[in-house]
Amino acid sequence: MYICSNCGNESLIWKGQCDFCKSWNTLKEFKESKEKKGVRVGEKKSLALISSPHEEESRIITTSIELNTVLGGGIVLGSVMLLSGEPGIGKSTLSLQLANWIHEEIIYISGEETLGQLRSRAKRLNIEGGNIEILTENILEDIFTSIEGKTPKVVIWDSISVLMGGEISGTGGSVSQVRYIAEKIVEYSKARNITSIIIGHVTKDGSLAGPKTLEHMVDTVLYFEGEKYDDIRMLRCLKNRFGATHELGLYKMTEEGLHDLDNPALELLSGSEGIGLALGITIEGRRALIVETEALTNYTKFGYPKRSSRGIPQSKLDLIIAVLSKYTPVKLESYDVYANISRGIKVEEPGLDLALAMSIISSKLGKTLPKSSVFIGEISLTGQIKSVMLLEKRIKEALKLGFTEIYIPHGSKEKLTASIDPKELTALKDFLHIKDIIAIL
Ligand code: TYD
Ligand code: MG
Repeated sequence: MYICSNCGNESLIWKGQCDFCKSWNTLKEFKESKEKKGVRVGEKKSLALISSPHEEESRIITTSIELNTVLGGGIVLGSVMLLSGEPGIGKSTLSLQLANWIHEEIIYISGEETLGQLRSRAKRLNIEGGNIEILTENILEDIFTSIEGKTPKVVIWDSISVLMGGEISGTGGSVSQVRYIAEKIVEYSKARNITSIIIGHVTKDGSLAGPKTLEHMVDTVLYFEGEKYDDIRMLRCLKNRFGATHELGLYKMTEEGLHDLDNPALELLSGSEGIGLALGITIEGRRALIVETEALTNYTKFGYPKRSSRGIPQSKLDLIIAVLSKYTPVKLESYDVYANISRGIKVEEPGLDLALAMSIISSKLGKTLPKSSVFIGEISLTGQIKSVMLLEKRIKEALKLGFTEIYIPHGSKEKLTASIDPKELTALKDFLHIKDIIAIL
């Protein structure tokens, strides 16, 4: 098979020009390893007698509770993980900190940094390093020779875009290279039951540098993200053969590296009270997370007002503005509207609609919302406040945090009478329509 080193297009015969991206002389021969094409030997067993892979795999439990959560209970031995994220977000820091989080042998292969750079980072992270061996090489064959016979529990490959190997020409990081190297790393890990963490860069548009196939080749895909000028970091699980996907881990980047964010409520809220601020509860993975929405509305003389959002899809902001303008006295046709979610958190799910709407209303009316209030609900095109998934979980989180005014969709209070303490029920205030809820201001 031939693969275009520019776009990754596959072709059975060699051609001078790639059919897909039209670049010249980019088709390189690619030999897939033969094992993969093997015939599958059939098995037959009663379903009740089959143990699920979750029961069989052994895991390393780390001292980072957030990491354990994201991975569904610790690092699975022999698994291959892809850790991707924008340059500078903290991937190398996170993987080096593993040395303090697990008491197992680790080999850290750095194709990007020098020993000196790694040493000073380790110092900063208070890593003594007795359990971690550093290798600064980037030719795959040399790496395998160097680590031959060693029995680490984890190998970190930092990063896949600078590793090179095989007969395939093409610069490091090209599609064919990345694919070849990933295949070799998977083979290595599976044969020896060693966990591999492959670090991958992400381009500005958020796609992984390298072929999509890389994500199919690994067991787990993790994505590390955060705002450049904020210290909150989010570790997301986008794929996991050994646990639930879409789990979220929260970290704080400090002078001494990453720390579990053990009290998100305290960290994610600014604690300030003011015009244009509203609190909501969103769901990330299996956890309910309190977040702050902020909005600014400003009169404009220009015919086409500005709408700008961060952390929320623009289309959602447009929709909420349209609903408010149509059904409430909050008319925004000649107002610029800016809306954010604080701390670089991104929310797409509808459960935060109501909080967002309330922050816009608060800004437009110039009135502050009560400090003890939190808003949960989706806003439909008709202006109705609709129920959202895991409503009960969200409400319980709000109660746990001590909120005394929890605004929820009409009709949901009755459904919760059995599961919520009657004393706490008084905190729940249900509303049918966005036009009614404005009265609280
Ligand atoms: P790094 O792990 O090098 O990012 P990546 O491997 O994803 O490119 O992290 C780089 C950033 O993290 C850098 O801007 C400095 C910051 N940082 C801290 O704030 N505290 C620390 O203890 C360390 C090691 C890095
Ligand atoms: Mg790095």
